[in-house]
Amino acid sequence: MSELFSLAHISDLHLTPILGFGVGHWNIKRGLGYLNWARNRRLVHRQDIADRLVADLWRQGADHVAVTGDIVNLGLPDEIGAALTWLATVGTPEKVTAIPGNHDIYTRRMQGPGCTEIWRDYIAADAWGAEFSGRPPQTFPFLRRVGPLALIGLNSAMPTRPLVAAGRIGSEQRDRLESDLIKLKAAGLICVVLIHHPPLPGQTAPRRALEDAAEMAALLTRTGADLVLHGHNHRDSLVWHPSRERPVPVVGVASGSAFRTHGPEPLARYNLYRFSSDGIELIVRGLADANGDVVEISRGRLLPTMQPLFV
Ligand SMILES: [Fe+2]
Ligand SMILES: [Fe+2]
Repeated sequence: MSELFSLAHISDLHLTPILGFGVGHWNIKRGLGYLNWARNRRLVHRQDIADRLVADLWRQGADHVAVTGDIVNLGLPDEIGAALTWLATVGTPEKVTAIPGNHDIYTRRMQGPGCTEIWRDYIAADAWGAEFSGRPPQTFPFLRRVGPLALIGLNSAMPTRPLVAAGRIGSEQRDRLESDLIKLKAAGLICVVLIHHPPLPGQTAPRRALEDAAEMAALLTRTGADLVLHGHNHRDSLVWHPSRERPVPVVGVASGSAFRTHGPEPLARYNLYRFSSDGIELIVRGLADANGDVVEISRGRLLPTMQPLFV
């Protein structure tokens, strides 16, 4: 059957170097985050690796790219500004949709615009989505129409205490998400939910988890969705979540910039979804070795029989 649309999913770039960490931006959260970056993340993530994956995904025929947050490290205005330049190299806002991660909305100490303002063209509804939802374009969740898909962009990021990377959707976003999913399904669109944190209970440690994961799980059980995409764990994962109609695939992608493994975190990867009348094919592409080419890691049809963890 002919292919309708290809969506690439890349996440957790943690672009470096860290820029603009002046005295006015210092607090304990950022100080500890900087130490973690200097000792660990700086040695793992590289922008040129992300650039190679991005070049590959366009070569593979992606029609659109979803970037599910943690584009920067300490949520500094200069980092966020540099990340906008990077996003522009990925593609125009018509071709690229972003949502924030916990490293993008890192602390209340901003002293300047944050990522939702600076990346506003990438983190906002399109004209169709604003009209369909009846909400201003920069209200979460925002809706975009790309081919046969409705992209639903949530914001799970919030400023947190030092050493905490938790997130929350909150009742307002959840209520909007639920009514959006019902309406979108009635309109016959393929519903793809974008969220930075893994949305289900038990998918990560409590200090890194979505605080209202139980509510999100219950919502997805009630409404269903065709696909839920997340980052944050820097690992591939696939969970089939039960819903009234059919199980919902909840898929996590590894970091798109890792040039060395880090514990259980693999080298850089992205996921490519090919939607057709046969269903959804998932192709995982990335580095098999740090100095090698971007290659296919695995491929399979996204069916409830597909097992968690692709490789
Ligand atoms: Fe991350
Ligand atoms: Fe994260």
